[in-house]
Amino acid sequence: MSGRINLLAPEVRAHPYAVYAELRRNAPVCQVDPGGYWVVTRHDDVVAAFKNPQIFSNTGMRVATKPEWLGHNPFADSMIGQDPPNHTRLRTLVNRAFGPAALARLEVRVRQFAEAIVARIPEGQVVDFVDAFTLPLPASVIGELIGLEPSLHARCKRWADDLTSISANPQDEKRREEIRATVREAETEMAAVLARRRREPREDLVSDLLQARVDGESLGDAELMSFMFLLLVAGLETTIHLLGHCMRFLMARPDVLERLRADRSLLPRFVEEVLRYEPPVQAIARLTTAETELSGVRIPAGARVMLLIGSANHDDTRFPDAESFNMDREGVNNLPFGHGIHFCLGAPLARLEARIGLDVLLSRFSRFTSGGPLEWNHSFTVRGPRVLPVVAHAKP
Ligand code: HEM
Repeated sequence: MSGRINLLAPEVRAHPYAVYAELRRNAPVCQVDPGGYWVVTRHDDVVAAFKNPQIFSNTGMRVATKPEWLGHNPFADSMIGQDPPNHTRLRTLVNRAFGPAALARLEVRVRQFAEAIVARIPEGQVVDFVDAFTLPLPASVIGELIGLEPSLHARCKRWADDLTSISANPQDEKRREEIRATVREAETEMAAVLARRRREPREDLVSDLLQARVDGESLGDAELMSFMFLLLVAGLETTIHLLGHCMRFLMARPDVLERLRADRSLLPRFVEEVLRYEPPVQAIARLTTAETELSGVRIPAGARVMLLIGSANHDDTRFPDAESFNMDREGVNNLPFGHGIHFCLGAPLARLEARIGLDVLLSRFSRFTSGGPLEWNHSFTVRGPRVLPVVAHAKP
């Protein structure tokens, strides 16, 4: 026993914010279980670390996602695991393909997907909303984004789950082989997409990426593959949990639901407050390159650090009355999407999916009630319901 707080203990997972508040007051930077990570809990310290990639490096992710038993993993080499100058070059190349034009194209498709998915939800009976809504919408959007045929969209979740479980140890040989098979399968399908778009470019992200040039330089084949793996991992689980948290608030707060039904233009405000109150990404990992200090606490060089966005978003010094859910707060809080050079590339897309998905749901259903106990996922970094039983009531 280390005597440290275990952030994966079931009672902490169910109510993490009281534990974070205690840490902010009494141990704003300290080591926790599992893994002995150094957690940073105060808003200003989290922002300071995000702003200092020289000391708080992203390279730890590469080591964690490419263990010896796996050998090859395009995700490990993606830009999220890189520091400048490599990160700067890759980010500049992909930025352009991810701009407002791409988003406008996707908006139409997001609505089509949402309408088809919501039309299939049975009314008046208990339904697992993860299966019925929060998973299929982002899976279709990510599948479309990386150019997969619709018949392959349902595979995205298994691929992403396998890729994100790589750093969890120990893994038995059967599980390791499953993960190796997933890497091969995903890579084969994505290579086929790249080859098709090379032959016949379309108006889509993959075609734009193939044509992206900065100072005459383009993305190499391995870099393109790594970026597609990154989109799959970064854009799926996160958005699933954002939608899951939105549903939790719609069920728990009939007053909020009433306001949204009366005025759909409030949906973006609602989504922002859900992102503050229940950020799907609770913690972001960094590796210190030198000894440093935050809130007067010395952190050694080579320390594995977790910046607790979940705690920063409940810091009263930044958000007055932080424990109340209040969609009338002024100003946008971008911390749920990170800060600085690695700020989430998909933030506008995630917001769009939530706004449109909820809009389509509210067009068909008048209210949502709980259909049974929620089950939380089991992860330090990403938080959301794994099972979410809901009864959706049709409009009278
Ligand atoms: C990075 C959160 C959805 C693509 C990040 C980071 C956060 C984040 C916190 C910063 C990582 C770091 O600093 O190391 C979220 C949340 C989402 C979401 C909460 C949904 C609610 C998406 C979507 C996509 C996406 C839909 C793409 C389709 C990315 C990429 C990066 C990133 C590519 C890496 C950027 C870089 O390294 O420069 N995201 N994300 N995300 N996100 Fe998101």
